[in-house]
Amino acid sequence: MRNRILILDFGSQFTQLIARRIREERVYCEIHPPTVSLDRVREWQPRGIILSGGPSSVYDEGVPNADPGLLDLGVPVLGICYGMQLIAQMSGARVVAGHREYGRADLKIEEADALFEGFRQGESATVWASHGDHVEAAPAGFRALASTADLPVASFCAVDRPIYGVQFHPEVAHTPRGDEIISNFLFRICKCQPDWTAGSFIDESVGRIRAQVGTAKVICGLSGGVDSSVAAALVHRAIGDALTCIFVDTGLLRKGERESVERTFRRHLGIRLVVIDAADRFLGRLEGEVDPERKRRIIGEVFIRVFEGAAKEAGGEAGFLVQGTLYPDVIESVSVRGPSAVIKTHHNVGGLPPDMPFQLVEPLRELFKDEVRQVGRELGLPEELVGRHPFPGPGLAIRVLGDVTGERLAVLRDADAIYLDEIHAAGLYDDIWQAFAVLLPVRSVGVMGDARTYENVIALRAVTSRDGMTADWFPFPPDVLGRISARIINEVRGVNRVCYDISSKPPATIEWE
Ligand code: XMP
Repeated sequence: MRNRILILDFGSQFTQLIARRIREERVYCEIHPPTVSLDRVREWQPRGIILSGGPSSVYDEGVPNADPGLLDLGVPVLGICYGMQLIAQMSGARVVAGHREYGRADLKIEEADALFEGFRQGESATVWASHGDHVEAAPAGFRALASTADLPVASFCAVDRPIYGVQFHPEVAHTPRGDEIISNFLFRICKCQPDWTAGSFIDESVGRIRAQVGTAKVICGLSGGVDSSVAAALVHRAIGDALTCIFVDTGLLRKGERESVERTFRRHLGIRLVVIDAADRFLGRLEGEVDPERKRRIIGEVFIRVFEGAAKEAGGEAGFLVQGTLYPDVIESVSVRGPSAVIKTHHNVGGLPPDMPFQLVEPLRELFKDEVRQVGRELGLPEELVGRHPFPGPGLAIRVLGDVTGERLAVLRDADAIYLDEIHAAGLYDDIWQAFAVLLPVRSVGVMGDARTYENVIALRAVTSRDGMTADWFPFPPDVLGRISARIINEVRGVNRVCYDISSKPPATIEWE
């Protein structure tokens, strides 16, 4: 039996967290929709199955269901929240509707065994609950393992099979000892081995990539970001000089970015790298364009055309193209959740038209971002690249608000470089999800020496976030903000005012355009 865990996603906002917790324990796992067939589950040979939470009630119409056969596969099962209610319902117990519990609860451990090994009997542990329905009494053939003041059965297990349920969320940080519960499930109950490491992933991937591409030529579009860089380094490890990387200088990059990509890939890693200078094409097409979505569209179109030309030259007509697709992108396409509203179109640099004559190589399809970073380190990529903040495909064009000109880009680039420089100097870079400067399309009055000035305003943005979906503004120490502002105003010609953006997402977004 393979050493891996299957997670069935019933739509909880925490499902990806379950997967990440398991991967952190060095056990491989995948998230699949609940509609996956029993045969497919058998074929996949999981060591254990987790039924996630979900927003539904087992009594709602058309809610996602689980096949009762899952409980008879002889494979350990853990139901979390809605998952536990499904187990209860499949085993003939009544799920009681409408008893809402959100937030912290005190879990009293009644049986400090298996799932709760390491706890003491009678001990209380803080857990995070978020559910509408609950299980009132354990089904026949099950017994309660823990309770809370409101829930007589906050956890249960089957008496004759390794089937468990918890009514709370062990995967969230608000359940401080949740990792022990997950680790008990993985190692004591499922008997997994912690063999999912960056090193083992690289070894396996190298074999897979070689088998996929054979002796064909492969190209990879580098954006300077973490994902495409790690994908390129991994494919290079597998096939060496059969890989050519293409880096398009859009003229919309940050200060020193092109040089840094050339240094890392060409000199440090010895990867064949073609750099295309297309700044004039991008800036020419963007001239006079102020609408954020139109800017994105233009950049996407020009990018594809430039990349296509370069790729044909480098890779010939029929070859392979590397993409840095990550696991969250793959899961979203199979989730039971409906499509969410499009607020901004996010072209990834390298987003390609379907008729390109390439087959895709996506070596990071199974990885979460933190795992990609780990693999990058293991492949010898420098820390400054691996720990980098995300950078949007359209680059500085959506940070120069309004008209994008060479001159305005130069002002923003200098201010942005000072900002990041001071963040590094203050040792704060790794505490921040993304930090960047924005050039506003307004002028403000100032006084320098004895003279009146009428110049540009720079807005600074820094946010903390887990995944970019929600974000909080970063609380800089005031002296750091003071230094940044003084340096930008003194050193960047054409700026006389600096503001700090204190909006969270939602309702604001991270980027200004
Ligand atoms: P927002 O501004 O939507 O940004 O809160 C969320 C994350 O997405 C990045 N972003 C983009 N990335 N193309 C990209 O590749 C885009 O058009 C784009 N717009 C925003 C943003 O930097 C943040 O990390």
